[in-house]
Amino acid sequence: MRISVIGCGYLGAVHAACMAKLGHDVVGIDVDPRRIDDLQAGRAPFFEPGLPELLDETLTTGLLKFSSSMADASGADVHFLCVGTPQRKGEYGADLRHVDSAFASLLDALEPGNLIVGKSTVPVGTAARLADDLSRQYPDAVLAWNPEFLREGFAIDDTLSPDRLVYGLPAGEAGLRATRMLDAVYATPLSTGTPRLCSDYATAELVKAAANSFLATKISFINAMAEVCEVTGADITLLADAIGLDERIGRKFLNAGVGFGGGCLPKDIRAFMARAGELGADQALTFLREVDDINVRRRIRTVELTRTLLGGSLLGKRITVLGAAFKPDSDDVRDSPALSIAAQLQLQGAEVTVTDPEAIDGARRRFPELMYEDDLTRAMDGADALLLLTEWEEYRDLTPDVAAASVGTKNILDGRNVLEPALWRRAGWNYKGIGRP
Ligand code: UDX
Repeated sequence: MRISVIGCGYLGAVHAACMAKLGHDVVGIDVDPRRIDDLQAGRAPFFEPGLPELLDETLTTGLLKFSSSMADASGADVHFLCVGTPQRKGEYGADLRHVDSAFASLLDALEPGNLIVGKSTVPVGTAARLADDLSRQYPDAVLAWNPEFLREGFAIDDTLSPDRLVYGLPAGEAGLRATRMLDAVYATPLSTGTPRLCSDYATAELVKAAANSFLATKISFINAMAEVCEVTGADITLLADAIGLDERIGRKFLNAGVGFGGGCLPKDIRAFMARAGELGADQALTFLREVDDINVRRRIRTVELTRTLLGGSLLGKRITVLGAAFKPDSDDVRDSPALSIAAQLQLQGAEVTVTDPEAIDGARRRFPELMYEDDLTRAMDGADALLLLTEWEEYRDLTPDVAAASVGTKNILDGRNVLEPALWRRAGWNYKGIGRP
């Protein structure tokens, strides 16, 4: 298939490279010429394991190219819309400006029989609105909505071997035509048995909102249990293991800690609440406000735990934060719990040094007032407390002896519950976890 991918951010750049890997002839298009130059030169604009190699491979075969001109989308049979839908400033709702402008400019490049496929996460009702516009101007073209579920850090695997494919389709012959074209795009994953579900537009849009809401709820549920563990002396990690053994519950996404962040879960649950409000169904989602509150409370609680760890005062204390990204294997610092905790500690009088294997540049742009250090050993030098807030492998593997050789005082807060408390305590450390005795 000849494919265009509009928007080469996290979703689009990975999608474009993966589509070329599946054997399609792909052009990735973005309004940012610098991003396009980087991608065309095989440089990934963000850290994603395996992406530089995949870009290299698919650029070399000639199946992948990039362009900053929408005119280069013409000639493609299928156009994927992969632009961002950030949270609107000062509001909960999603900002659809990029979707609307990409869609409008794509129409100029459209040819009869083309299929437009939305992948961006949008409020329910968006696809129907765009399909209306399309049918008025290009009655022969079809719109489908095919939400993306990729996780940062596993983006390539999630795209090449997804858990499921969801097609949101118009009724009748147009829907059947879109299904045939999407089946041709995804022939490889479908041939290995990937489940494929066909629905109307609204269901497909809601699948994405519901999936992210469920994941956020699962994390906030276990973090709420951690709050109860903290006042009872119970251990949240054993509790999660025990309930997770029930297949109906499952152990995944039950890791208590400093909570969720990133460019998706926080803004998606807020946009979902806002949209439900517009539709008069706000009561159905009031629980998501609590999910959000529990999540934010984790950050405040971590600041308080740090104060306790340091004997009651943060003033002038040297704190080293291990991790700035919102999760490991990513350089994404959007709504990162680690960074927001670091900034709060600094505001309350601590001297905070942040280290991270990949996210320091992005973190510095967001919080220039914090101190940053690439080298882990130097970052820990003379610290009054270590805070492990993003569970990169090198921090999980840190040993009490190695850390003790650098720090000033042996205090550690394990904000992701990934260290072995007994090991650290035996080595003379004052260890605190989240929801652990
Ligand atoms: C998420 C969804 O998983 C993905 O399907 C969707 O397409 C986009 O949003 P992503 O933002 O990459 O993906 O991160 P994810 O792996 O879901 O983690 C989200 C946050 O939850 C991270 O901050 C992570 O540290 C946190 N988390 C995750 C927990 O605090 N506890 C857990 O048990 C799991």
